[in-house]
Amino acid sequence: MFFFSAFVSAVLASQASAAVVSGSKASSFAGSTSTFQFPPEGVTATASLINSLFPDASEVGFAGPTPTGDEAESVATAPALSPVKGFFPLVRPDTSDEKGKTFNVVDSWANLSPMQSVKSFGLDNATEQIPEGCKINQVFVLHRHGARYPTSGSSPASFAATVHSAAGNGTFVATGPLEFLNTWTYRLGAEILTPFGREQLFELGVGTRVKYGDLLKNFTGLPVWRTTSEERMVDSALHFAAGFFGVQSYQTSYYQLIEIEQQGFNNTLAPYDQCPNANNDISGLGSQATSAWNNVYLVDAQKRLAPFLPGFNLTISDLSAMQTLCPYETVALGYSAFCDLFTEEEWKGFAYSIDLSFWYGNGPGNPAVSAQGIGWVQELVARLTQTPITTFDTTTNDTLVGNNITFPLDQPIFVDATHDTVISAILPAMNFTTLAAGGPLPLDHIPTNRTYKVQEISPFASRLIGQVLSCPASDTPTHIRWILNDGVLPQTGINGCGEDPNGLCEINAFIAGMKQRIEEVDFAFDCFGNYTFSLSNDTITNGQFPQ
Ligand SMILES: *[C@@H]1O[C@H](CO)[C@@H](O)[C@H](O)[C@H]1NC(C)=O
Ligand SMILES: *[C@@H]1O[C@H](CO)[C@@H](O)[C@H](O)[C@H]1NC(C)=O
Ligand SMILES: *[C@@H]1O[C@H](CO)[C@@H](O)[C@H](O)[C@H]1NC(C)=O
Ligand SMILES: *[C@@H]1O[C@H](CO)[C@@H](O)[C@H](O)[C@H]1NC(C)=O
Ligand SMILES: *[C@@H]1O[C@H](CO)[C@@H](O)[C@H](O)[C@H]1NC(C)=O
Ligand SMILES: *[C@@H]1O[C@H](CO)[C@@H](O)[C@H](O)[C@H]1NC(C)=O
Ligand SMILES: *[C@@H]1O[C@H](CO)[C@@H](O)[C@H](O)[C@H]1NC(C)=O
Ligand SMILES: *[C@@H]1O[C@H](CO)[C@@H](O)[C@H](O)[C@H]1NC(C)=O
Ligand SMILES: *[C@@H]1O[C@H](CO)[C@@H](O)[C@H](O)[C@H]1NC(C)=O
Ligand SMILES: *[C@@H]1O[C@H](CO)[C@@H](O)[C@H](O)[C@H]1NC(C)=O
Ligand SMILES: *[C@@H]1O[C@H](CO)[C@@H](O)[C@H](O)[C@H]1NC(C)=O
Repeated sequence: MFFFSAFVSAVLASQASAAVVSGSKASSFAGSTSTFQFPPEGVTATASLINSLFPDASEVGFAGPTPTGDEAESVATAPALSPVKGFFPLVRPDTSDEKGKTFNVVDSWANLSPMQSVKSFGLDNATEQIPEGCKINQVFVLHRHGARYPTSGSSPASFAATVHSAAGNGTFVATGPLEFLNTWTYRLGAEILTPFGREQLFELGVGTRVKYGDLLKNFTGLPVWRTTSEERMVDSALHFAAGFFGVQSYQTSYYQLIEIEQQGFNNTLAPYDQCPNANNDISGLGSQATSAWNNVYLVDAQKRLAPFLPGFNLTISDLSAMQTLCPYETVALGYSAFCDLFTEEEWKGFAYSIDLSFWYGNGPGNPAVSAQGIGWVQELVARLTQTPITTFDTTTNDTLVGNNITFPLDQPIFVDATHDTVISAILPAMNFTTLAAGGPLPLDHIPTNRTYKVQEISPFASRLIGQVLSCPASDTPTHIRWILNDGVLPQTGINGCGEDPNGLCEINAFIAGMKQRIEEVDFAFDCFGNYTFSLSNDTITNGQFPQ
């Protein structure tokens, strides 16, 4: 019962402290960690009780009529699709300066934001609905996991530890807008999905069934869908499947491939584990860029908030951690008192700090990034051309991808689950250059001609959809296009594709372009080369070391 009693004692302490704080004394438990685990320790559902008193539905019988309807295909049949908007049951936060105005703090959470539909990547008239005169023949779904707890040992937890240390020393007294910190405890776990994150993936599964369910008719066997071994990745994939097939039948309706995600294992859905330059100073360019910008945009917040924590050294890193706590607490607990400590300008600054982190660490400005994305592109070409991969020279895994059971080439619906930083690597690997058209991101101000927004690329439950189409309708695909979080991507950066108001590219030109990208990206050098690169000379926009 350890967890439970720890939780109770934190609650009791919090009640006791309210009185103490009003007398302006420090609370000794502020910033302490509280956790809880259910079911109670040692308690599990037992087979004997299930068999005797809680039989399953098939044993009980009396299910009533169960006729199935036809499959849906709303991308083809509906006059318009419904955008993903809002994030029930999370509470929409306010800013400190613009209470109740139109600015929405959630729109500045970048990769910590719930996915909401992107309006446009420049093709204003295109939507996920398939263009007039075309038929959908196949769909690719590459999605991120849902909302999660912070990475183990990252800034939210270390901020809590600093507060707790000061509280233990009897020097922690918070006043004014920060008074809540006197009774604040750290209630977040690490790494795994939150209940809201599970909802997101369930909804993505439902949405995919309603939009593309008709393609199930062209499976001759069961689907094989892929994820990685991390808890939140498996949980996300299963919730997707539960949404897509329903909880009573998803386990028997498809095969879930779980690829090991661990340093040294080849896995195109976790390619950084097979790319040394994704784990050294080269990948550190992103956090360097963020630190530089934090020292610009958080200075005012530091001046404003420090007086409310007398005797506590409120650093720029602390302020960044406090901002980070707002999305993480909200997606886990439904609400966070940290959100409205910051102004609209500071929230825009926060979004930009994450844009910088991705651009220089996991996006077009990092020389080892296209290399990380290219393995998935090789798999895409194999699937589009129905040609098995025979040369394993990137992060592809011979054991899994060289096997036509674990890597079928001919599925009408492909589903791959991955991470934010992998989606952000696959985009430059595929040469979606319009996302990088604004050029390298400055470290001292937010540029006006911004084309790179992590909010639109890798929010929680982000999805990149590939539609293989025939125009005019037939059984032979003629075109392909890509839709990122409901916004159609221009393919003008891909040789042979050109401009199209619906983002269409002729399929053979697209495949030729991808093959050319595979030649252009030097996986061995960009990932394994011993080179130096610094922010001062980092002007790349293609995620590759300059030739
Ligand atoms: C979208 O359609 C409108 C009306 O047909 C047209 O005026 C506009 O130029 C189109 N925009 C793009 C980006 O094609
Ligand atoms: C599925 O396959 C059948 C037979 O090959 C074909 O007639 C039909 O158009 C295909 N459906 C889709 C959605 O591609
Ligand atoms: C609390 O006291 C310890 C021991 O003196 C010191 O190392 C630590 O920095 C103090 N923490 C804070 C936040 O003041
Ligand atoms: C390929 O993946 C399998 C299963 O995840 C793993 O056992 C194997 O070690 C991987 N191979 C390489 C070369 O990483
Ligand atoms: C506050 O923290 C910053 C950053 O760690 C450090 O540079 C500075 O010396 C500290 N100031 C005081 C008064 O401890
Ligand atoms: C694993 O990836 C490396 C490149 O990092 C590649 O050289 C090797 O052939 C791959 N091995 C397998 C078994 O896929
Ligand atoms: C899968 O591979 C096996 C062994 O190489 C082969 O016999 C079989 O025909 C392949 N199946 C398909 C559908 O390609
Ligand atoms: C964006 O603006 C910067 C200066 O603010 C300029 O150097 C750059 O060329 C612009 N890029 C585009 C694509 O307009
Ligand atoms: C990718 O984009 C670059 C420009 O950044 C261009 O030089 C290259 O030819 C493009 N490659 C393909 C295959 O489209
Ligand atoms: C990389 O090169 C530098 C000198 O250019 C050398 O000192 C260092 O040991 C090399 N690192 C590796 C991992 O080979
Ligand atoms: C970038 O600058 C560093 C020194 O800051 C230098 O060592 C490196 O060779 C430069 N890289 C490129 C690609 O110019």
